[in-house]
Amino acid sequence: MVREMEFRRILGLPPYVFTIIDGLKYEARRNGRDVIDLGFGNPDIPSPDTAVEKLSEAAHNPRNHRYSASRGIPKLRQAVAALYLRRFGVELDPDTEVINTIGAKEGFSHLMWVLLQPGDAALVPSPSYPIHLWGPYFAGADARQVAIGDEVGHAAGAAYVDRVVEAWEYGWPKPRVVVLSFPHNPTTATIELPELQRLVDWALERDVILVHDFAYAETAFDGWKPPSILQCRGGKEVAVELYSMTKSFSMAGWRMAFLVGRSDVVEALAKLKSYLDYGTFQPIQIAATVTLNEELDYPRHVSAIYESRRNALWDGLDRIGWQFPRPLATMFAWAPIPEAYRHLGSIEFAKLLVRECDVAVSPGVGFGPGGDGHVRFALIENEQRIGQAVRNLRKGLSRLSGSD
Ligand SMILES: Cc1ncc(COP(=O)(O)O)c(C=O)c1O
Repeated sequence: MVREMEFRRILGLPPYVFTIIDGLKYEARRNGRDVIDLGFGNPDIPSPDTAVEKLSEAAHNPRNHRYSASRGIPKLRQAVAALYLRRFGVELDPDTEVINTIGAKEGFSHLMWVLLQPGDAALVPSPSYPIHLWGPYFAGADARQVAIGDEVGHAAGAAYVDRVVEAWEYGWPKPRVVVLSFPHNPTTATIELPELQRLVDWALERDVILVHDFAYAETAFDGWKPPSILQCRGGKEVAVELYSMTKSFSMAGWRMAFLVGRSDVVEALAKLKSYLDYGTFQPIQIAATVTLNEELDYPRHVSAIYESRRNALWDGLDRIGWQFPRPLATMFAWAPIPEAYRHLGSIEFAKLLVRECDVAVSPGVGFGPGGDGHVRFALIENEQRIGQAVRNLRKGLSRLSGSD
């Protein structure tokens, strides 16, 4: 008989709420219903042909079947440095200021191991992409949540900076790490460069590392371009940034991201990772290198698709009276639960949308208690399907309110 044991590191983890909605979605589909899935942020846009072709070519070369370099092959790191120079005007030393990670999620998790230990604290956004909250916790540290409030767009980023400074100045022990991530998942909050500069200026006078998860670096609309924290004066002295190919190049499954910036932090992560992994499969690194060097327009192409979908969803919801600020970036819409259903909370409301409207969304509470008043739509279906989702929502919700 198996003796019962406690697995303490994961004991505090709540059940992944998205699985509840997934369960309902699969059940509805088994019953023949056409559920439109706007839940999980799993990109549906194909990766660039260049990446696929280079991967297949490189995979045929047995030299690429061996262990690769944990920090990433030199040409890949050079390609990232070239991208930062081209896109942000930021110079990076590919040898000391760039390291390849197995997606931003792996990079972030192990970075927290490097920066934090029991007794330490990090400031993290609330609501947050789950690993921002749980990464510090896995490292045995305390994660103190700082609200991304109801301010709209860039004002939300500015308000987050104010709240971070306040939480740090009044908190004890002093947090060693501040996590930020703009454009922000799930709230779609954004930030402008002067506000990032204000945070960097503040951090330069403190013992604190700024960790910027820049997953939506290229996914922005209406001509706006998100700033990198490394564009700030002194940025490389206090900050590291995670740049991922998942959304920008629609290469989610490839697990290709980079930690860039402050060199002692990059080196520390490289040291830890040299114990943990042998890097990404080399053909993937080669394919990513060629993609970064040759597919300069792909991020714009991907972003334009999300922008059309943003328009279809937001305009549609606006027309049916479900109103909230128009997202300027990311691949999401963060919608407050309509007044009449707010008492249900986000899980019950999301269940209701599957049952009554054949539309799956993510309940906001899945991003922490700060998200419970909202649901998140992910723009992972095409415009026609999004249009259908809006019609389903109009019909389902007006049936429930008795006005149909
Ligand atoms: C804020 C944020 N960080 C990281 C990730 C995951 O990125 P990657 O696929 O590079 O691990 C996501 C994906 O949804 C995200 O929203």
